[in-house]
This record gives sequence, C-alpha cells and structure tokens, in this order.
Amino acid sequence: MATKVYLSTRGGVVDPADATVSAFDRGFLYGDSVYETLRTSGPRRVVALRRHLERLHRSAAGIGFSIPFSDEMLIAAIDDTLTAAENAASRIRVVITRGTGPIALDTRTSSQPMLVVYVEALQLPDEASYTRGLSAALVDPRTVANPGLKTGNYLPNILALRQAIERAGDDAIMCNRDGFVTEGATSNVFVVASGEICTPSLETGLLAGITRSIVFELCDRLGASMSERAISPHELAAADELFLTSSVRGIMPVTRLDGETVGAGCMGPLTRKLWEAYEDYVRAVGRGECE
Ligand SMILES: Cc1ncc(COP(=O)(O)O)c(C=O)c1O
Repeated sequence: MATKVYLSTRGGVVDPADATVSAFDRGFLYGDSVYETLRTSGPRRVVALRRHLERLHRSAAGIGFSIPFSDEMLIAAIDDTLTAAENAASRIRVVITRGTGPIALDTRTSSQPMLVVYVEALQLPDEASYTRGLSAALVDPRTVANPGLKTGNYLPNILALRQAIERAGDDAIMCNRDGFVTEGATSNVFVVASGEICTPSLETGLLAGITRSIVFELCDRLGASMSERAISPHELAAADELFLTSSVRGIMPVTRLDGETVGAGCMGPLTRKLWEAYEDYVRAVGRGECE
C-alpha cells in the first residue's frame, strides 16, 4: 500500500514527502483549480476515465481555463503514478491549477499551470457499512458560485460536512436557497419512494456526478423507473430508501436522516439491486471489458 504523487513541476512521480508545491500557486492561494476524484478496479484500470476527463475539461472551460496538458499526457501521468504505487486498487485525485504568479486575482498574471496526480490505496467502507448505511444530516442552504463545476473551491462543502458531523451525522445533504435538496458534500442523492427512483435535477444546482450518470444507465438496464426533478427535504425523510453516489464509495445507502430512521433502516431492496449492478460494473472494468 503506497501513496505516490505525480507533479508536473517535477516532471515525474515522487514520494509524498517530496510532493511540495509553490506557495504562489493559485490553487493554494485561491482554489483556482479544477480536479477529479477517480478509482481503479484492480491495479491499473481506471473506472470511467474518459467521462472524468471530459468533466475536467468542462470544469476548466467553466472558469475560462484552457488545460495545457493533452489527454494522452494526463493518462500517462495517471498510469505512471499507479505503476509507482503498486496498489491492489487505488483512489486517484487529479488536480490542475491555473499555475503561479504574483498575488493578484487577475488570471492573466498566471503562468505554468500545474498538474498533480495523487494515488493512494483504495480504502472502501466494509460490506457491513453498505448494508447498515450512513447517517446523514440536512444542512443549511449554501451559497456556492457554480456547483456544476468541480473546482478547488470546496469550502462550502467542507463546512457542510462539519455541520453534519457536529450533529452526529456521517455525511451532509445540502439544499439550495429555494429549500430544495441538491446533493451530498461529495456525492449525489437518490430517493426511492413507491418503487420510483428519483434524483434532484441539474437545475437544482449540483455536480453532474459520473456515478449518477452510471446509475441512470443501470436503472435503464434493470428496467427501473427513474426521474430527475426538484425534491423537498420532506421527501427524503419520508423515503422508502435513500442513497448517495460517488466515484470512490459507489452506491452508499443513507438509513438515518437527522437522527430519524429512513425506510427500514438498512440497505433497501432497490438500492441493493443497483449496488450489486454497480459492483458488477466495477468488476467488469477491472477485467478490461468496459470503461
Ligand atoms: C459535490 C459533489 N457532488 C457529487 C459528487 C459525485 O460525483 P462522482 O460520481 O463523479 O464522483 C462529488 C464527488 O466528489 C462531489 O464532490
């Protein structure tokens, strides 16, 4: 189990102790960066790599930042870092900052965008945690510039998670200023009620999760009814099943909300069906059968 870091400023992979960056880097100074979090299935097969790279470019374009690294170069940097880490399975974080410059907001003053690839051993909750599910807390509406972009500005999400933990939750579920549910601190939210699966629509203000899109495809394949719409916090509390999705944890049930039991208080039948289908998909990626 090893952690390795690729740094474009070093031109290669280094150990964590040597993974230092400039104090003038705009990612450090202003969160002026974009990123992706991914996982592998097995040592080197990256789950949904193309979709993550596409979203990375979308996030960058959304902040007027043209990534100067080619996809081939990004893929090679990821692969070199995975090879150096030699983990059975890894969690990957790809960060691209707008680079360094004087302490000035003007983005024209920046140069040398920096690519950092972090690879660490994948640590997933054990199977019992998936069956038991998480406890979540609904947190205050947040104010965030553009939740649809995966930029380095995650302070609102960090504060949301702090609020949830203070209220004995494992995770936070956030709402927009109109009071509708948006997403988790680092995940998307799905509700199951009367056999229907639904998730907040993108217009509600949320990140278009890669796992969210894979769940849509799995619902299609399983013939499960699925819709996107505005969802009220009350619907979460009254749901038969509730779950969160993200690239690392996959499909994670929420079985308590603000201290109250949701549904049967453990992973529900539809969530289990989707969870099994998602785990099958990840294993298929590991065998090289799909991306
Ligand atoms: C705010 C937010 N929403 C949703 C997600 C889930 O996205 P994905 O499935 O692409 O990991 C994340 C992942 O980090 C996130 O940070």
